[in-house]
Amino acid sequence: MPQHSPDWFTEVEPVVADLLDRHLSMAQEWFPHQYVPWGRGRDYDGPLEGVAWQDAQSALSPVAKSALVLSVLTEENLPVYHHRLAANAPRDDAWTAWLHRWTAEEDRHSTVMLSYIHSTRAVDPVALERARMRYMSAPSGSDDLPSDPLHGLAYVMIQELATRVAHRNTGLHCGESVCARLFARVAQDENLHMVFYRDLYAVLLDLVPDRAMAGLWRAVREFRMPGQAIPGFAEMNARIALAGWFDLEIFHDDVLVPLIKALRVRERAGLGDRGEQSRAELLAHTERLRRTAVRFRERRPVAPAPER
Ligand SMILES: [Fe+2]
Ligand SMILES: [Fe+2]
Repeated sequence: MPQHSPDWFTEVEPVVADLLDRHLSMAQEWFPHQYVPWGRGRDYDGPLEGVAWQDAQSALSPVAKSALVLSVLTEENLPVYHHRLAANAPRDDAWTAWLHRWTAEEDRHSTVMLSYIHSTRAVDPVALERARMRYMSAPSGSDDLPSDPLHGLAYVMIQELATRVAHRNTGLHCGESVCARLFARVAQDENLHMVFYRDLYAVLLDLVPDRAMAGLWRAVREFRMPGQAIPGFAEMNARIALAGWFDLEIFHDDVLVPLIKALRVRERAGLGDRGEQSRAELLAHTERLRRTAVRFRERRPVAPAPER
């Protein structure tokens, strides 16, 4: 959702409307409450005078707990993302309709993850709530979204795919069947979001090739996963990377390469100087990133198997 209306904004609105219709026909209804193991829940200490949380109450690994914390806090930050995207787009058009639908779907993600955490006692609920309060009320704002519209759309496209892969891998490696099913379901939502933004961006590459290629290159060059301002982000993120659940190599192989292929970045004709230069830098950067990622993997101290 662009912050300001560039010339292509209105022109591409019918495409947004078509992609929204397609999304609505593909998205399957699902209910967060059906994915939560309520039978494993017990009252907590506090007003209900139940049992206080203790680390030993959950058998999940430290990696799985880190993935849960980063995932739920990122998803809980939805009001900030919605505000940033909607602030300058008050119009009643397909862009706004998509934004509202996307927000409604994203809201399920934090709901289902937090309910799972509370019912299974997976992580300390007090520390988690305090981290959420700090993250969302940081004076500088939590996560910044790019203000340039094309850069912003390219960022969201990359972020949706990265989140899809990260959630899918959390489900695959967490070692707990309810957690696995929940993350697989959320990853399905993220996949449809990515497909929406990817197919929209392909149209923009046709419509305004030089600017769209420049926006893509900038988004790749500056990409950072959401949630950087979460307290303890670096440590939890490193734990997840060292375990092989989501690292630079996965980002290259499962996020960047598929997007470059789907958007036909290499094959595109009709680029001007700016577009050609952006493409060349994007492809060179992707290759450098691949080499760095392989070096990281080879130097990893102990990696007999992904930690559970
Ligand atoms: Fe999400
Ligand atoms: Fe999403």
